[in-house]
Formats: sequence, structure tokens, C-alpha cells
Amino acid sequence: MTSPAEPPVVLPRIAVLGAGSMGGAIVAGVVESGATVEGGITAVNRTRAKADALALPGVESLALEEDPGATSRALAGARLVLVGVKPAGVPALLDEIREALEPGALVVSIAAGVTIATMEARVPNPVVRTMPNTPSTVRRGVTGVAAGDRVDAAGRALVHALFETVGTVVELPEDRIDALGTVAGSGPAYVFLLMEEMTAAARAMGFDAADARTLVEETFAGASALLAASDVDPAELRRRVTSPKGSTERAIAVYQAAGLAGMFEEGMRAALARSREMAAEAAGA
Ligand SMILES: NC(=O)c1ccc[n+]([C@@H]2O[C@H](COP(=O)([O-])OP(=O)(O)OC[C@H]3O[C@@H](n4cnc5c(N)ncnc54)[C@H](OP(=O)(O)O)[C@@H]3O)[C@@H](O)[C@H]2O)c1
Repeated sequence: MTSPAEPPVVLPRIAVLGAGSMGGAIVAGVVESGATVEGGITAVNRTRAKADALALPGVESLALEEDPGATSRALAGARLVLVGVKPAGVPALLDEIREALEPGALVVSIAAGVTIATMEARVPNPVVRTMPNTPSTVRRGVTGVAAGDRVDAAGRALVHALFETVGTVVELPEDRIDALGTVAGSGPAYVFLLMEEMTAAARAMGFDAADARTLVEETFAGASALLAASDVDPAELRRRVTSPKGSTERAIAVYQAAGLAGMFEEGMRAALARSREMAAEAAGA
């Protein structure tokens, strides 16, 4: 695992094919990190509206609807090609760019469920499959990285440097990437669900919407900061809040009796099963 690096980070020219929510977040992360991108970043989307949404210093943002040659122009000289389109669009996009890719340029996909084998079958280049998460938009993401056999040490280092601009990088074998997705990819949704439920309970206890939000938001942020600053695990921090025979203990007993512990594993196994279904659907598409 590697965490955000201190500048100066130097990256080679980057082409981003599909810079929507996630691809755009990574572009923004690179820009905000102060990394030097030699040769700059060229991002391509289909529509001008999407291209305009990515107005960042040092980023050339092109739209295919007004510039059909935008993809080839973006790829010219690019040593790092970030594929940020929806999973269903990845195979066709790789077929389309095969001839325009610079020899040896690293192809980095963020698409869920699209395997390294699927991508390597379409381009002769080294290929990396990644799974970022949405806190990447505030540079607190976790990105799982699985490199194909064609990727050398320099390529691995490049991918680390890229995703460290938006948070923490965890390298793992490809067969673990769906599992990582069920924890870190879907994880923000689990946390938001807990926040929703705590907010609803706070409202039921008479707090207005603004105060309920403040109480819940600051409690999550404070607890995360406390954990980050301490050298013990969450179970120990929980014990420190839970006095014997106290009020917190009563609440925890209710949550445990409702099966909270096993529920998380069950939920994540359900998420993993669905990821595998979707990957099978994509492979058959
Ligand atoms: N969002 C997440 O939380 C998340 C997390 C992990 C991984 N991912 C992965 O990230 C990828 C993108 O998801 P997203 O949520 O960012 O979707 P998104 O916001 O819809 O972004 C996709 C972008 O691709 C553009 N596009 C489509 N076809 C293109 C083409 N042929 N050439 C260039 N650009 C093209 C679209 O442009 P137009 O809108 O102008 O058509 C759009 O801006 C997916 O593969 C997903 O699995 C997302």
C-alpha cells in the first residue's frame, strides 16, 4: 500500500478517454496535486458540455462531437492512457485506438468488471486494471491496482504515482479486485447508509435537519480523525467509548442483537456475487 506522495511528482503526457465523474476526478487530482505532467493532459469526452465541465489549468479538454479526430490527437505522444468510459464501451474503444496508441504506452482502465485479458486481447500495450472510489474526488480515495504481465516496474511506479494524486493505492492480484470493490468501491455507500440512519434517528429525537446533519457529519469525521491519529484498532476505540453498564453499551447491544456483525459480511458477499454476474455479462456482450 502506498499513500499520497509529496510533490514534485513528474508524469509523462496523459490522454484521458472518457473524463466523466471518475476520470474527471482523477484529472482534477493530478492538477491539484501540483504534479508536473510533461507534455500535458488531453481529455476527451463525447459532448462539448462534458468537455466544458473539465476546465482545469494545464488540461486540454476536447469533445468528439465537434472534433472527430480528438482521440487520435490525445493519444499522440501519450505514454499514459486512462480509459474512463463506461465498462460496456471499453472493448470497442480499445479496438478503435489500437493503431493510434504509442508503442509501449501504458493503458490504464478504471472500468469495473473489464478484465485484463479482455483488454490485452485488443491492444498490444501493457495494461493495468484499477478500481478507484468516489472519495478520489476529494483526494481521499482508495484505488486498487492490478497490473497485467506486460507491465514492468516503471509502469507500475507510474500507475502508483498517478493514483496517489487522489489518495491511497493498494496493489493486488486481479482476482482480488472485485473483492476490493465490495469494501472500498461500494464502501462509501455503506457509510452513507449508516449516516442516513443515524440522521433519521436524530430527527426522531427532536433535532432539526441542520443540527442532525451537523451532529452526524461531525461525529463521523471526528471518529475517523481519532482513528487515524491513534495506534489502536476501531474495536478498542469503541470499547473506550463504551463504559460497562453505560448508555452506549445498551445501544451497541441492540445493534449486535439485530445481527449487525454478520450483516456486513453477508452484504459484501452479495456485492461480490453481483460484480461477478456483471463481469460475466460484460464478457458475453
Ligand atoms: N463513478 C464511480 O464511483 C466509479 C468508481 C470506480 C470505477 N468507475 C468506473 O469509471 C468509469 C466511468 O464511470 P463514471 O461514473 O465516471 O461515468 P461517466 O461520468 O458517465 O463518465 C464516462 C465519460 O465517458 C465519456 N465517453 C463516452 N464514450 C466516449 C468515447 N468513445 N470517447 C471518449 N469519451 C467517451 C462520456 O462523455 P459524454 O457524457 O460526453 O458522452 C462521459 O463523460 C466506468 O467504467 C466505471 O466502471 C466509476
